[in-house]
Amino acid sequence: MSVNAVVGVQWGDEGKGRIVDYLAKDAELVIRFQGGDNAGHTVINDQGKFALHIIPSGVFNPDTMNIVSAGTVVNFDTMAGEIDHIEQVSGRSVDNVFIDRRAHLIMPYHCLLDGAEENKRSDSQKIGTTKRGIGPCYSDKAARMGLRAGDILDEDWLRTRIELLLPKKNRDLEYYGLKTFTVDELMELCARWKARFGSYIIDSVPVVREAVESDKKILLEGQLGIMRDNDWGIYPYTTSSNPTVAGACNGAGIAPCRISRVYGVIKAYSTSVGGGPYMTELFDSDGEKLRRIGGEFGATTGRPRRCGWLDLVAADYACYMNGVTDLALTKLDVLDSFETIKVCTGYMIDGEYYSYLPDTSYQERAKPVYEEWSGWMCDTTKCRTWEELPEKARAYILAIEEKLHTHITYISVGPERDQLIVR
Ligand code: GDP
Ligand code: IMO
Ligand code: MG
Repeated sequence: MSVNAVVGVQWGDEGKGRIVDYLAKDAELVIRFQGGDNAGHTVINDQGKFALHIIPSGVFNPDTMNIVSAGTVVNFDTMAGEIDHIEQVSGRSVDNVFIDRRAHLIMPYHCLLDGAEENKRSDSQKIGTTKRGIGPCYSDKAARMGLRAGDILDEDWLRTRIELLLPKKNRDLEYYGLKTFTVDELMELCARWKARFGSYIIDSVPVVREAVESDKKILLEGQLGIMRDNDWGIYPYTTSSNPTVAGACNGAGIAPCRISRVYGVIKAYSTSVGGGPYMTELFDSDGEKLRRIGGEFGATTGRPRRCGWLDLVAADYACYMNGVTDLALTKLDVLDSFETIKVCTGYMIDGEYYSYLPDTSYQERAKPVYEEWSGWMCDTTKCRTWEELPEKARAYILAIEEKLHTHITYISVGPERDQLIVR
């Protein structure tokens, strides 16, 4: 069996895109299984530098089929812009990306409502949403008030659906003093989407089933990280889907027993974008240095990312929840010039020591307990083998591996495709 999943085991932006790009070289099928264009997956390869939002990172291999699966939410306007950009930069046409007919459509009103709902929240309650309409679209899906990609292929059915749901949407928009929509306006929009994407909307089940049953190499690409999972993350500061391997099975339509390896992507330190607790956040010059050297600015929104030391308690929780079989440790090189490196191994909460990750409100009161490591203070960006890494870097990696009981199979020492050590 060769169904492998790539998931983020922190707060997102772990470097999933570069790992998927690397693994996708051999993949026959890459499936984006949840989320929408809130993602920003940076890929740097021989075709250029790209920030992918909804397009799976297997797009660069012409022989790889890519599916934006049933578990996702799709904004066809931004998808069109993304594909145009990839075609312009790479100089080749993109005809290897398909959308499952069950994927939900992010409509213009979802984006408007996302912004309005966020504006209503007080500063301490803000989620820091990307305002891409993700939350409102998944809410409509759960309320059975959503539109799906396949709906735009059947005009009569589409009109019936829009006529049913639009009055409620317009009431919500009016409540916030926002522009309302007419049925005809939305029908025209969907007709435009159908003209561009109609032939790429498929029922992915037979395709995925055939690939699974004939042992094809399949890669499941997650968005964000478990700490923003809607069930297991820092609710309510979460996204509205499940970026875990369980979410991968559900979103891609593949049974759990089919998964062979789960690659957990983890940065050598940590970052978080948006609101909510983040125990190891640094407000000092070390945090500033991590942000500067690591280039920690959002790939989707450009927002400065909150930066901090590696939290092994949260990572241990993530490895357990995802059944991670292999870790890909990214951005080791960012620590090259730190004399001292810290890792969090527990928390103090209300005077009590915690060795496990508690729920959100406890996290908000948690103070990290650190172990200190002395840094290696030399350039790792040219290392291509385990032996070439400085001894102190190897010790740091082995300590992480031991604490997480999980093999670190890939070590990334730069953003380029070849800046990777396979162990
Ligand atoms: P994703 O959302 O998980 O795909 O991660 P992002 O693309 O949002 O953020 C990762 C950032 O780190 C991108 O700018 C990558 O180009 C960059 N990157 C990935 N791996 C490495 C690495 O090993 N070293 C350095 N210096 N940068 C890296
Ligand atoms: P990738 O895939 C980092 C954060 C937002 C916000 C919360 C909910 O590149 O790792 P949403 O737009 O889903 O309503 O936002 O999740 N967030 C991300 N943070 N990387 C991302 O994607 C993110 N996608 C959403 O900042 O706190
Ligand atoms: Mg990102």
